[in-house]
Amino acid sequence: MHPDLTGANTLRPKAQTDSRLSGIGAPTPWYRVGAIPDAREGIRVVESGMDTSASDPSGESARVVRVFDHLADGYDRQITWSERLLLGDARRWAVAAARGEVVEIGTGTGLNLPAYGPDVTRVTGIDISAAMLDRARARLNSAEIDQDRFLLRHGDAQALALPDEVADTVVSTYALCSIPDPAAAVAEAWRVLRPGGAFVLAEHGLPDNRFGAALLRAAEPLAVRLSADHLSRDPLPLLRQAGFELEQVARSGRGNMVVRALARKPLSSAIPN
Ligand SMILES: C[S@@+](CC[C@H](N)C(=O)[O-])C[C@H]1O[C@@H](n2cnc3c(N)ncnc32)[C@H](O)[C@@H]1O
Repeated sequence: MHPDLTGANTLRPKAQTDSRLSGIGAPTPWYRVGAIPDAREGIRVVESGMDTSASDPSGESARVVRVFDHLADGYDRQITWSERLLLGDARRWAVAAARGEVVEIGTGTGLNLPAYGPDVTRVTGIDISAAMLDRARARLNSAEIDQDRFLLRHGDAQALALPDEVADTVVSTYALCSIPDPAAAVAEAWRVLRPGGAFVLAEHGLPDNRFGAALLRAAEPLAVRLSADHLSRDPLPLLRQAGFELEQVARSGRGNMVVRALARKPLSSAIPN
């Protein structure tokens, strides 16, 4: 494992608010991440020193943080119902496809984390919302897992504080729909992946029936405002434009509204010596 991936040198004392968060609106003190009662101290959250003010002058990332900080309490309930009624079990597929050193972007409340199997050596879960990471941390600390395999980072998928080519797999489940600049996040996934590595994603989009698609298009402005959810966003063109080879693409869920994709960074993209 690349030593920088642990972020060990960037761990800050608890109860410290990072001034570099000033670019994303009212900063959430990151000590909140560890403030919930834990049975064990185990899992750490590393502050990645986000500053989205330069890349995101519109302030949309700040708004996304506020939305998910607000939704965090009810998120698991809400996504569980959405998966039962609409989305199905695509996250299970995504987790099963991961191998080696894994970076999960928009990890949220960490629903996927305890499910990574023995083919995964380590998982770094990254999210821009400290409140969502609160839940991920609590989940990991109460799970029967080898805690050394997990690291949580408070950071921005549009500008990952990770070195180039450190990951074997980047995973995103229902995260690209909420990231303000998804092309930037895909470009970052490409950068941190080793040549031959895979970007595995499960994402919802429009159903294949006209009525359902029209309904979701009509609801999209409200969904973006209330839950930072771009209902009609299609990740596949973004993956192709970034240079990924689409090795597996499948649709599932109600009206085939979920796309599962395994996108490979070609071996030929290795930087020549
Ligand atoms: C709909 S939730 C999905 C959470 C989780 N992946 C799941 O499958 O349940 C989207 C997550 O993406 C996170 N997110 C949005 N923009 C982000 C960004 N720029 N960088 C990192 N995480 C981001 C949100 O905070 C939220 O936790």
